[in-house]
Amino acid sequence: MSELNLILLGPPGSGKGTQGELLQEDLRLPYYATGDILRAAVREGTEIGREAKGFMDRGDLVPDEVIVGVIAERIADKEAEDGFILDGFPRTEPQAEALADKLTELGRSVSVALLIDVPDEEVVRRLGGRRTCPNGHVYHVEFGPPKTEGVCDVCGAELEIRDDDKPDVIRHRLDQYHSKTEPLISYYEGRGLLQRVDGTQPPDEVNERIRALLATHQKEEEL
Ligand code: AP5
Ligand code: MG
Repeated sequence: MSELNLILLGPPGSGKGTQGELLQEDLRLPYYATGDILRAAVREGTEIGREAKGFMDRGDLVPDEVIVGVIAERIADKEAEDGFILDGFPRTEPQAEALADKLTELGRSVSVALLIDVPDEEVVRRLGGRRTCPNGHVYHVEFGPPKTEGVCDVCGAELEIRDDDKPDVIRHRLDQYHSKTEPLISYYEGRGLLQRVDGTQPPDEVNERIRALLATHQKEEEL
């Protein structure tokens, strides 16, 4: 199988984390979610965590220079030599350029930028009922509840409401997405790398659609 360097693009709440978790099991590739990485850094009180916290609480993007180094280091790691799944990165054009440069340096390139498309009203509904565990597993009180209320099925940790899942912060995150991240759709479309999937379907159906798209991509690569 050829290398797969996959980017998950999409608004907050589109299901990047939900699909990332399923794909990681299926594709057996390392999964790097910048939101999860930054939240862990905040919990651990590292320098990056201290720098990022204020931006994250407000729903602003953290500065490019804070996040680019974190990802550059991971994709150059041996565990990512057959590919990787990126969730939440890149989120700005400078980040996309930095990723392309780093991959070029490694003699590689982005394989697919996969847009999970979901309208704003659905985002607001989803994030209002989201519950997460400290290890990044994602639930929804209505659309995907855990087996035992308040407890993660996978690691048994207590489920939490994210600090940035408050209505006004959700709105601000959406604004940030539309102004800073959405331009990446045409960026990747122009490079022939964009694939779209309808993210409003149930998680299993979205997953099946993504797997079908990726299978077609792999076949084309092998021709
Ligand atoms: P991040 O953690 O990446 O947040 P986000 O992009 O806002 O995305 P979310 O994690 O909120 O949503 P998701 O798409 O993963 O959806 P999920 O699967 O959870 O980033 C947080 C912050 O970190 C940023 O605001 C920024 O400050 C900073 N940051 C991170 N990366 C950065 C970068 N590169 N540059 C600068 N700053 C950066 O699903 C949502 C809910 O919906 C869940 O409850 C789930 O159960 C449910 N659900 C999922 N799929 C479905 C479905 N198909 N049907 C019904 N419900 C569903
Ligand atoms: Mg997420």
